[in-house]
Amino acid sequence: MHKMHMERFSRTIEQAAAHGLDALALVPGPNLFYLTGLSFHLSERPIVVLLPVDASPVIVLPALEAVKVEQTTVGLDVFPYTDEEGYTPAFQRACASLALAAPSTGSGHRPPTGSGQHCVIGVEPLQMRLLEVRLLERCAPGCQLVPAEEVLGKLRMRKDECELEQMRRAIAVTEAALRSTMRQVGAGMTEREIATLLTVEMLQAGGEGMAFSPIVVAGPNSASPHATPTDRPIQPGETVIVDCGATVGGYAADITRTFVVGELEPELAQVYEVVRAANGAGLAAAGPGVPAEEVDWAARAVIEGAGYGEYFIHRTGHGLGLEVHERPFIVSGNQRPLEPGMTFTVEPGVYLPGRGGVRIEDDVLVTPSGAESLTTFPREFISL
Ligand code: GLY
Ligand code: MN
Repeated sequence: MHKMHMERFSRTIEQAAAHGLDALALVPGPNLFYLTGLSFHLSERPIVVLLPVDASPVIVLPALEAVKVEQTTVGLDVFPYTDEEGYTPAFQRACASLALAAPSTGSGHRPPTGSGQHCVIGVEPLQMRLLEVRLLERCAPGCQLVPAEEVLGKLRMRKDECELEQMRRAIAVTEAALRSTMRQVGAGMTEREIATLLTVEMLQAGGEGMAFSPIVVAGPNSASPHATPTDRPIQPGETVIVDCGATVGGYAADITRTFVVGELEPELAQVYEVVRAANGAGLAAAGPGVPAEEVDWAARAVIEGAGYGEYFIHRTGHGLGLEVHERPFIVSGNQRPLEPGMTFTVEPGVYLPGRGGVRIEDDVLVTPSGAESLTTFPREFISL
């Protein structure tokens, strides 16, 4: 097995055992990719990796995907199934091989390490579907499925140098695409046209994919933080919020800038400066040992101080990595101290209903001595 995956595997197993789990069951998604480098679509064909704390891991997957496992250095016992035979027998065989099945079907195998047949399997509560839950319950009867948040929630929070390298590249690609797209934008273009252009530019600049569908919203539509681009042409004097991110090596960028075509009305111009100051205050507050919520408070205090607190309708940020929204969340109530290697967004916004919004979002890395914005795209007001 690749050294990096081996280290991640053993760290995970150690944590699982320390939390009283007999095994972890992972489905396609960021944790599985982080631990094995394997990526699959989450589809109607279930795929589960069972990671027992005291035996070799196994994977149940469609036969057509087995070649991916053969091509990796990750040592997984493979239980493939064909479309014709269906997946249940493969799941039964996999669970029996790990003695996760009931004693009657699993006799002759070693007993699970936990409490007899009541083996405890940690699952990903935000990833695993009822499909896999029911299959495991059927094929490993007596097992208890529990959310493995304590183990998996911390797993990917601190990024290593390899991960940071991918994130830096994703950010560079996104910034290059933002620059070239904005040079081509003018009044009369629709939100959807700009979003399409941005997507093409991100892919041409070296993005492997989109971390999410770009948000390009103008005027009243920009007062809704996650609105969908429409066919409405952009009018002079409107704010245009552009929120986008490419992926490189599976890692996401997530950058927002707010532009204007022509002249902005005085109040929105003032709001822009408030949001810019809030963005700076959030970055300045971040550093090792600082509770995550203090970054939120610092950004929010600027907006509240200017009288726009009620229009800042979301948290200040979220962790960023293999997922666009992951831990640590930069929100009041999250007292988790920040640690070097953590990456998250700082994205204060003010949204005036019916008129328009402003958001400025940077991707921030906690360093041993403070915090660094990985995003370098100018934050000054840009008129197109
Ligand atoms: N765009 C802000 C958030 O989802 O937290
Ligand atoms: Mn974001």
